[in-house]
Amino acid sequence: MPKPIFVLSGPNLNLLGVREPDIYGRETLADIDARCAARAALFGMAVDCRQSNHEGQLIDWVQEAREAASALVINPAGYGHTSVALLDALKTLAIPVIECHLSNPAAREAFRKTTYVSLAATGVVSGFGGTSYELAVEAAAGLAGAIRS
Ligand code: DQA
Repeated sequence: MPKPIFVLSGPNLNLLGVREPDIYGRETLADIDARCAARAALFGMAVDCRQSNHEGQLIDWVQEAREAASALVINPAGYGHTSVALLDALKTLAIPVIECHLSNPAAREAFRKTTYVSLAATGVVSGFGGTSYELAVEAAAGLAGAIRS
């Protein structure tokens, strides 16, 4: 089994299902994590899903991914728009980095249009609710070499 795909979720995503459901949907993060695991399994891969409300914890996990992951999926949530430190951590990675968002930040408030994390991302999936995560996992598996055509 190859190294897992790390799937990191940032602040307030632990409240999915009850947090602004008109924007983020009614699925919980546990539901989405299960979808990620099922999607990865189709490609013979595993996911390691983690969530934190703390910037430093997310940075520690990004650093751990340098050795422990075959690819990284990250929904940085609000930190995507603010955290140079998270961007700097992501820039140390040699593995594929897929940024994902449930909503489409480009279609929302002006302050969401800048996402520092995008500067370190191989690609971005936004606007498909929980399916954004699944698509990001599939892209990560492909870039990590698990999908052969
Ligand atoms: C989000 C979009 C961000 O702008 C917001 O701060 C979030 C969630 C999304 O998944 O759509 O917390 O990353």
